[in-house]
Amino acid sequence: MRDEGDVDLRHHGDAEVGPGLLDFAVNVRAGTPPAWLAERVAASLAGLAAYPDPRPARAAVARRHGRDPGGVLLTAGAAEAFVLLARVLRPRRAVVVHPQFTEPEAALRAAGHPVERVLLAPPRFALDPAAVPADADLVMVGNPTNPTSVLHPAAALAALARPGRVLVVDEAFADCVPGEPESLAGRADVPGLVVVRSLTKTWGLAGLRAGYLLADPDLVARLAAAQPLWSVSTPALAATEACCEPRALAEADAWARRLAADRAALARDLTAAGLHVTPGAAASFLLVRAEAGERLRHRLRERGVAVRRGDTFPGLGPDWLRVAVRDRRTALRLTRTLAELRLGSPRGDAAPR
Ligand SMILES: Cc1ncc(COP(=O)(O)O)c(C=O)c1O
Repeated sequence: MRDEGDVDLRHHGDAEVGPGLLDFAVNVRAGTPPAWLAERVAASLAGLAAYPDPRPARAAVARRHGRDPGGVLLTAGAAEAFVLLARVLRPRRAVVVHPQFTEPEAALRAAGHPVERVLLAPPRFALDPAAVPADADLVMVGNPTNPTSVLHPAAALAALARPGRVLVVDEAFADCVPGEPESLAGRADVPGLVVVRSLTKTWGLAGLRAGYLLADPDLVARLAAAQPLWSVSTPALAATEACCEPRALAEADAWARRLAADRAALARDLTAAGLHVTPGAAASFLLVRAEAGERLRHRLRERGVAVRRGDTFPGLGPDWLRVAVRDRRTALRLTRTLAELRLGSPRGDAAPR
């Protein structure tokens, strides 16, 4: 377990893309937001003179997950949820399970809390509930996890819950998984559970800032009291409501099924190119390890392909790269570039010197 702030927790994939680069670094679904959703957001602009009313969107989220509206807090993206949790909770022993998205730890540190890390081990990055100290009163974990793409069983996560502990499960990528079998979003019976969700990834709304958390109504009330008034804008509320409708859920599910096929094909291609693909991927990206991975990342970039560095995630090093799953045609441009690099290598390997 490590507790030092030794990596740049505030580095994100969007810093690695730019004009002329083919984007395999950012995890937002390509071609989003869909036109129908952009129209709903645009239509909401007619109501901008009024302050936002979160009630219809909160009710829609509650219906979608079978929860009581009092157990729903709408937030300006998952990022606001992490900040609210960090500012409101007073953990004596906060543990973040890594490698995972770094903002939960960054928010805890910014609020003045010491953070301990539990590092899951490659190649499978499996969650062992026993690795989390018994007296940790705040535990944060992602499912499926960014950047490993690993989906932990709901039972393993629920085994982390206990009275006196807040268990935060970041489900920003949960809708990548058809049917969401390991999601805890509908579980009001797990003590101390907070599920954080985001509209950013599947719906292409990073710029809108829309997400929510699901928790015990008492905790929701405490978090709501700390939230800036009208934090979630009218267009974000319109999007949240729209994305809970059956048509949106069906679209997300159909996409998740296509994603699974594209992901499997990409994993085969990357393995054939000599990269080690983390097994059990369930989200919209793959975590890979390559010999001389940092150099490979630079060489891909020189050839117009951006993949995300892995070394800013605690527990990983410069040989680790995160690759977004794209449609087959786009993915083939990556595998072709990898093949060219391999041919140009003096040793003929995937990570030429
Ligand atoms: C796992 C995970 N959770 C949360 C977020 C942030 O989501 P939002 O845009 O809703 O703040 C990200 C963004 O990269 C993420 O990867």
